[in-house]
Amino acid sequence: MTPGSPPEDGLHHEGKATFVLGGAFFRPQSAIARDLAVLAAAVYRQRQGQLRVLDAMTGGGVRPLRYALEAGADWVWGNEGNPDLAPVLQANLAALPAGTYRLTHQDANQVFFSCYQQRDFYDLVDIDNFGSPAPYVSNGLWATKLGGMLYLTSTDGRATSGHDPERSLKTYGAWARSHPAAHEQGLRLLIGHAAQTVAARGLGIEPVFSLFTGQVHRVMVRLVSKPTLSDATYGFVAYCHGCGQFQTVDWRHLGRVNCLCGENAAVLSGPMWLGPLHDGATLAAMQALAENWGWRRQAKLLAIMAQENPLPPYYYPLGEIGRRGQMDIPNRDRLMAALNGQGYRAAVPSMDWQGVKTDAAFKDCLNIARHMQC
Ligand SMILES: C[S@@+](CC[C@H](N)C(=O)[O-])C[C@H]1O[C@@H](n2cnc3c(N)ncnc32)[C@H](O)[C@@H]1O
Ligand SMILES: [Zn+2]
Repeated sequence: MTPGSPPEDGLHHEGKATFVLGGAFFRPQSAIARDLAVLAAAVYRQRQGQLRVLDAMTGGGVRPLRYALEAGADWVWGNEGNPDLAPVLQANLAALPAGTYRLTHQDANQVFFSCYQQRDFYDLVDIDNFGSPAPYVSNGLWATKLGGMLYLTSTDGRATSGHDPERSLKTYGAWARSHPAAHEQGLRLLIGHAAQTVAARGLGIEPVFSLFTGQVHRVMVRLVSKPTLSDATYGFVAYCHGCGQFQTVDWRHLGRVNCLCGENAAVLSGPMWLGPLHDGATLAAMQALAENWGWRRQAKLLAIMAQENPLPPYYYPLGEIGRRGQMDIPNRDRLMAALNGQGYRAAVPSMDWQGVKTDAAFKDCLNIARHMQC
């Protein structure tokens, strides 16, 4: 079988799940997003002693299977709007013990409202939509337990990358501009939108982990009672097209945003989440579990996420450093070591491994990269 082609016996395998598709949407390339969700759910199950999951857009049901078989979910609810998938889902979820799962075929928003009406709140609500998650975030909260988690998806790359700011305004209430750290911007717009939606109800969210996989942005957030949205965690990223420098800008200083180079006005994107992308303690527990399960690739990604977490909310692609410095693209690891040697922090951005996240000013980063080539 060649990678990506359907298996000859019609059976797909991922983690401990075996399933047929029968026309259900399924991207094998999204396995990493399911792996991290399973790890976060397993850590939650260990800490809280229970795990009830609502998978609101389940497709062929791979997620409820994996949450049950790998994360130890006590109960899973797979909902899929397309009723033609009922036979496929019934066949797939029959692998679980009777009485531990439920299958429905409703619109996801209808499911969320009925959960709220019945005071039936979930430890994990997974919303794997196409396009923007905005129509579901607010409603998904009605089904999420306080302290529980919401897993959100955006495949709306044009809006988050700044190529359609009108659409990002309508979707996220934010004006997204194009700049070299656009992949991270997508995650921050998504979290920012969720944080603002929750804040309007007097609650907060904490990102558990944030993942960009090349086309799709995903964030798992924890719903908490304390407010987490403030002018420190929710604001703007400014970029200077003249010199390449980023900076963060809070609401109080919107009126006077000049670049540090003193020569150009900076271009603003936002508002978006400026706080941490991940919860360090949960990442560490997920990484330990991944190592325990022999999931080396996932453990490596989680380590990268942990290292980037305390650094500023943007990064510099190596190609951009080469272009602006009119030099060969610098070696990432040598550049990071050189930055550390000058007292700066540096890490690999989880959303672009051919980049560097640093607290050095861009001109210092360029100078250090230049010296490396002498
Ligand atoms: C991206 S696919 C899900 C893939 C699956 N979660 C996985 O990991 O393989 C999205 C699914 O949601 C269903 N869907 C789309 N809009 C929906 C809605 N408003 N309510 C319920 N299901 C919906 C689609 O029919 C599709 O099967
Ligand atoms: Zn500048």
